[in-house]
Amino acid sequence: MSESYEFVVVANRLPVDEVVADDGGRTWARSPGGLVSALQPIVRRQGGAWVGWTGQPGEAPEPFDADGMHLHPVALSAQDVERYYEGQSNSTIWPLFHDAVEQPAHRRPWRHAYDAVNRRFAEAAAQLAAPGGTVWVHDYQLMLVPAMLRDLRPDLQIGFFLHIPFPPVELFMQLPRRAELLRGLLGADLVGFQRPLAAQNFLQLTARLLGLEPQDEHVEHEGRTVVARAFPISIDVGEVEELATDPEVQAEARRMRAELGGDRRLLLGVDRLDYTKGIEQRLEAYGELLADGTVSNDDVVLVQVATPSRMRVQEYQELRARVEREVGRINGEFGAVGQAPVHYLFQSMNRAELVALYLAADVMVITPLRDGMNLVAKEYVVARGDDRGALVLSEFAGAAAELETAFLVNPHDVEDLKRVITEALHADDGEQAGRMRPMRTQVQQNDIDKWARDFLETLDSTGSTKPD
Ligand code: ADP
Ligand code: F6P
Repeated sequence: MSESYEFVVVANRLPVDEVVADDGGRTWARSPGGLVSALQPIVRRQGGAWVGWTGQPGEAPEPFDADGMHLHPVALSAQDVERYYEGQSNSTIWPLFHDAVEQPAHRRPWRHAYDAVNRRFAEAAAQLAAPGGTVWVHDYQLMLVPAMLRDLRPDLQIGFFLHIPFPPVELFMQLPRRAELLRGLLGADLVGFQRPLAAQNFLQLTARLLGLEPQDEHVEHEGRTVVARAFPISIDVGEVEELATDPEVQAEARRMRAELGGDRRLLLGVDRLDYTKGIEQRLEAYGELLADGTVSNDDVVLVQVATPSRMRVQEYQELRARVEREVGRINGEFGAVGQAPVHYLFQSMNRAELVALYLAADVMVITPLRDGMNLVAKEYVVARGDDRGALVLSEFAGAAAELETAFLVNPHDVEDLKRVITEALHADDGEQAGRMRPMRTQVQQNDIDKWARDFLETLDSTGSTKPD
């Protein structure tokens, strides 16, 4: 029998992506997104297997060990990528779960591919997990996996965590085959969410769709108890602190500031290029502040890092075109030779460069229209051990519930954005420290290890399904 693991993580992506160069050579790079930032340190420390996709269509490479983790690639054909990943996951479920800020599309072949790929992930996990082991399934791409896995392996403890928001009942009800998705999630012993409201939405849905009778934080389903609770995800505090206090990273931050114009105040945006992140609203507000003279190109500069994401999906291509047009317009209208008001970087960065940017920024501007958590916000406050800087944070990011002393803003309201960004730019040292300190303490006391511990201990105590 092949090797088995007491702890298995199942996520759409592996922590590393396979990168194919023009000459056909293959290397590995860190995968994009908050899920990997959060989970990688946990699996690395605790050991175990990780089932996921390499980010490339075609045959899966052989399983391999890296950084104390056993990585088990699952193959997605080009058609699977188009239908399961770009289609059902990112053109149906993603927009619907983010308040339908883009119109969700519905296609039958996408749903069939979603079923088939979820089954493949469930089978891989069933093969790898040790008897009575723990399997932790992640995110909206794999919502059918818990029930499929339970059918295959009733001996397992199964947890599920949703990294994105869970929509209100009325929105979820729009999904074709909605009851199947819900039954998929109910295959888990514990379903975790970013916010208490999401857990409530889920429990209400079990009553509305399946006629179940949820009570407090749990619901009985097919003779088992399923617990639904919020576990706000966090960051690897130690990693960010180590980088932020590294003299080389600090020197890089000083160099960046000098190059951008030593006296100019630096506004920073760091997001995957995604329509949920409110990048266009941020640019609109900044453009208006320049136009009405509240700020000028001589005293302020915006650095916008936009990480390439889902670039084959039409809405993402259109967003990129709109964002780049707006950056060009602002630079054209308000720039000077050798001095642009927006520096736009459409690229991935290494962690040290990113933390150097956090250290250099006077104001971090995070304005999603809807976001499950937003780890960039937590990384920024932890990086600022110097108590300097200011965080402008959307009320619609999960992080706003914990980072209460941020400059909170409604990103749907451009006037509010302009007002709050201006306020943050004018905060004096005392106000900066008074706001940053409690936020930093909050994240330090609730780091990623605590998140994982809370979830896994709750799962362990739920474990009603274990046979005698
Ligand atoms: P999401 O999961 O929606 O992408 P989060 O803010 O929760 O958003 O997580 C993003 C993660 O990706 C953070 O850990 C952040 O440091 C990292 N990240 C964002 N942009 C880049 C980039 N350009 N290069 C490398 N890492 C990035
Ligand atoms: O939770 C956010 C998330 O969708 C993760 O599931 C995902 O790994 C990450 O963002 C990045 O997106 P993608 O894997 O589609 O590039």
